[in-house]
Amino acid sequence: MSAKREAKLIGWLRAAERVLAFCGAGVSAESGVPTFRGAGGLWEGHRVEDVATPEAFERDPLLVWRFYAARQKALQEVEPNPAHRVLAAMDAHFPEFLLVSQNVDNLHERAGSERLVKLHGSLMETRCTECERVTPCDPLPEAELDAGRLPHCRCGGLLRPNVVWFGEYLLAEHLRALEAFFERAAPDGKASPPVVLIIGTSGSVSGGYGLTQAARRSGARLVEINPAPSLLSREVDLPLREPAGVLLARIWPEVTREQR
Ligand code: OAD
Repeated sequence: MSAKREAKLIGWLRAAERVLAFCGAGVSAESGVPTFRGAGGLWEGHRVEDVATPEAFERDPLLVWRFYAARQKALQEVEPNPAHRVLAAMDAHFPEFLLVSQNVDNLHERAGSERLVKLHGSLMETRCTECERVTPCDPLPEAELDAGRLPHCRCGGLLRPNVVWFGEYLLAEHLRALEAFFERAAPDGKASPPVVLIIGTSGSVSGGYGLTQAARRSGARLVEINPAPSLLSREVDLPLREPAGVLLARIWPEVTREQR
């Protein structure tokens, strides 16, 4: 049964010219980055949802920065896994490709992905709460935070992590990039249908983004790669229940193999 589904995916990808991958925390799970909703979603006894909000930052910026500094530091100890690498290879392979990731880690970039939309921002960037300037950053030294010193912009404003928190909006330019992909991908009767790969997301946040509806309107084939069912599973054509790195590393040589 699953061999049949896998063969179907290989066939769709071999024929596809337009592919969109929509990813979540599950893609980085095989690198050792914990998912949000796995293991109780706790950090030092706080619910992750309670430290990742604008209200939490207003109330206790040191606590919020300590959370993000720990996650920045943890990134230095992990490497991209085969899922990140195959996604980067897809970027180089398909004429029309877009990787839309909810992950704030930097593993897609480190694997070589270029056509990348980081929907929820980046752990390795700060944004000034006054002038809005976005700057790449190194992990914030814990000693600074232990001494009660918060990072500041050269304009004097307090810096925050450049991530989208609960209760905040996605960037309009990111939503436009998604829309533009689907506009270009709309069925024209000639090309083979676009393929949308939904990989490693529970859908608890992304379920509200309208992705599957937009994909349907464009005539896309929807595939889910996730060892467990998600809130999006009912809307896909082809669910594949395996870890992303394992599955993608196995199918990619088949997708790209020269046919005689
Ligand atoms: P979740 O933690 O909600 O879900 C992770 C998903 O990955 C689950 O469906 C798992 O079954 C799946 N998974 C686990 N291991 C996997 C593997 N090896 N291969 C494939 N899938 C695997 O993470 P997200 O859906 O990404 O938002 O969470 C969405 C957003 O909620 C995050 O971006 C973050 C969070 O709060 C913000 O920070 C705004």
